[in-house]
Amino acid sequence: MNFKDLMLSDLELVEKELVKYLETKDVMFPKLFESMSYTTMAGGKRIRAFLVLMFARLSGGSVKAALPYACALEMVHAYSLIHDDLPCMDDDDMRRGKPSNHIVYGEALGLLAGDALLTYAFEICATNPNVDPSLAAKAVGTLASLAGACGMVGGQVLDLEGEKRKLSREELHHVHELKTAALIRAAASLGCCTTFEGLKYLDRANKYGQNIGLAFQVVDDILDVTGDEQSLGKPIGSDAENNKTTYLDFMSLDDAKVYARELTDEACSELGEGENADVLRRLAYYLLERKN
Ligand code: IPE
Ligand code: IPE
Ligand code: MG
Ligand code: MG
Ligand code: MG
Repeated sequence: MNFKDLMLSDLELVEKELVKYLETKDVMFPKLFESMSYTTMAGGKRIRAFLVLMFARLSGGSVKAALPYACALEMVHAYSLIHDDLPCMDDDDMRRGKPSNHIVYGEALGLLAGDALLTYAFEICATNPNVDPSLAAKAVGTLASLAGACGMVGGQVLDLEGEKRKLSREELHHVHELKTAALIRAAASLGCCTTFEGLKYLDRANKYGQNIGLAFQVVDDILDVTGDEQSLGKPIGSDAENNKTTYLDFMSLDDAKVYARELTDEACSELGEGENADVLRRLAYYLLERKN
C-alpha cells in the first residue's frame, strides 16, 4: 500500500475506534461526552495516531496492540487544543473548521471536557488489553511525563510567558520542544511500547519525534502568517494578535522554511532501512508541505 492510502486507511480505523470510546458513555453526563466528542471527532490530521501505528509496525508490534494508544494520543491532543483555544490562553474562536469548544459548550464545560479527555486517555493506555501490563505501565509513564509539567503543559506555560516578553531563541526552541515535539515524541514512543522487542526502538522514536515535532511547530508558525483560514480550519494571525514569540521573530519566512526542512532531513536520517521507515520519511516531508 502506498503512503497516502495507508495513512487514509489508518485514519478510518482510528476514527471508528474513537467513536466507540466516546459513544459508550452516553448514559452518564451526555453533555460532557458530547463536548469531548465535538472536538475529538471534528477531523484533524490524526498524525499522532498515525505515528503510534507506524512506530508499532516499525518496531515489530501489531496495529491491534497500538490502536488504544493511538486513540489515547488523539484524546490528549484534543484536550490540549480545547484548552489552548480558551480565552485565558490563545482565545481562538475556530478549531478544525468549527466554532471552538468553549464557544459551543461554554468555558466551564470546555475545560472539563479537556480534563475528562486527558484522564480517559490514561485509563485507555493503562487498560490496553492487547499488550503486556508492564508495557502498558511503561506507556502510561511515558505519556504522563511528555504531556505534563515538564512536557507539553510546561511548554504552554513558557509559550504564554512569551506574550509578555520576547523570548530568546533558545527559550523559543524550548517552547517548541515542549509544547509540540513532546507529544509527537510520545506518539512515536508509545508505538514502541507494544512489544518488549519494540522498546529497542525508543531512542529512534525520540530522535525522529523531536525533529519532526520541531519542524511541525515551525510550519505551524509559518502557516499562522501565510496560511488560509479555510484550509487550516483555525484563525490565522493568532500569534501576532497575542504578541507571541515565534521563529519569525528571529528569521525570515524563507529561512524558517529552510530550517524546517533541515529538521526534517535530520529526522529522516534516524530511521534506518525498510518499508516502514520509508513511510515515516514520506510522512515527514508531507508534513513539511502541508497546508492545514
Ligand atoms: C495543532 O496540531 C496544534 C499544534 C501542535 C501545532 P495539528 O496541526 O496536528 O492539529 P489537527 O489535529 O490536525 O487539528
Ligand atoms: C500548539 O501551539 C499548542 C498546543 C500544545 C495545543 P499553537 O497554539 O500554535 O497551536 P494552534 O496554532 O492554536 O493549533
Ligand atoms: Mg497556543
Ligand atoms: Mg493556539
Ligand atoms: Mg499555532
